[in-house]
Amino acid sequence: MAQKIDGKEVSLFIKDKIKNETEKLKNKTGSVPGLAVILVGNDSASHVYVRNKKLACEYCGFYSESYELPESTSQQQLLKLIDTLNKNNNIDGILVQMPLPAHIDADTVINAILPEKDVDAFNPSNVGRIMLGEYSFLPCTPAGVMELLKYYNIDVSGKECVVIGRSNIVGKPMAMLLLHENATVTVCHSRTRELADVTRRADILVCAVGHPMFVTADMVKDGAVVIDVGINRKPDGKLCGDVDFESVEKKASFITPVPGGVGPMTISMLMQNTLTSYKLKVKRSQNNGI
Ligand code: GUN
Repeated sequence: MAQKIDGKEVSLFIKDKIKNETEKLKNKTGSVPGLAVILVGNDSASHVYVRNKKLACEYCGFYSESYELPESTSQQQLLKLIDTLNKNNNIDGILVQMPLPAHIDADTVINAILPEKDVDAFNPSNVGRIMLGEYSFLPCTPAGVMELLKYYNIDVSGKECVVIGRSNIVGKPMAMLLLHENATVTVCHSRTRELADVTRRADILVCAVGHPMFVTADMVKDGAVVIDVGINRKPDGKLCGDVDFESVEKKASFITPVPGGVGPMTISMLMQNTLTSYKLKVKRSQNNGI
């Protein structure tokens, strides 16, 4: 029977470290990190995520601003708000919650955020730096997975890691972070042939496809570590991941539950990025003699 990986516990551990560091920095500088979160439209899951991000800011002692804009907001209005926040020295991170309404182009919006305030690490310049392994901002969800592995002393070096899903937000950066830690990485996707043959090779299997019950016990090697990045809603309204938890937990050595696995980690990584952005800003202003 697998050991359950407790994302809430690890997330709290990280947020406590951030909170302590923020308090010390505040005593030194008189200021705190600031995060602005923008939500456009009525997506109910997005409203929950945005509320949780605001609560995490309060917990860590950050300054936060949240903008909940109507579905009818134009792209120009959104870009104007981002421009104002780019120029606001109290704001170190700007996060525009995805998905955006269809009439707004997400790439244009992401590109409008100053790379030094792009705490999602979605901007092409930050994505490129992740590829090179020289990055300040962590890709939040994959970095959260890496922190879970570290906390549970699960060594990645030399292991067979299989990532299911090739999205820009999770699959691709996940593969990069595992590769930076010397794993042998395979990325699977909808065109992968004989998927189960590939996934059964995995010492560490990461699934991010967005389909409930996608990973079944026959796809998992005995003793594998199974990380479930999926967040799906069942017909009864309850959350579930991409992994058939009940059958897979009997075979795996470690497994993340949904909810309470990877999800809480994403937010603590966002807090980490906001703190990093703040510290870089303070350093820049010291270098400029301000
Ligand atoms: N929507 C779902 N996950 C994310 C995320 O990590 N960042 C943003 N901006 N939107 C999301």
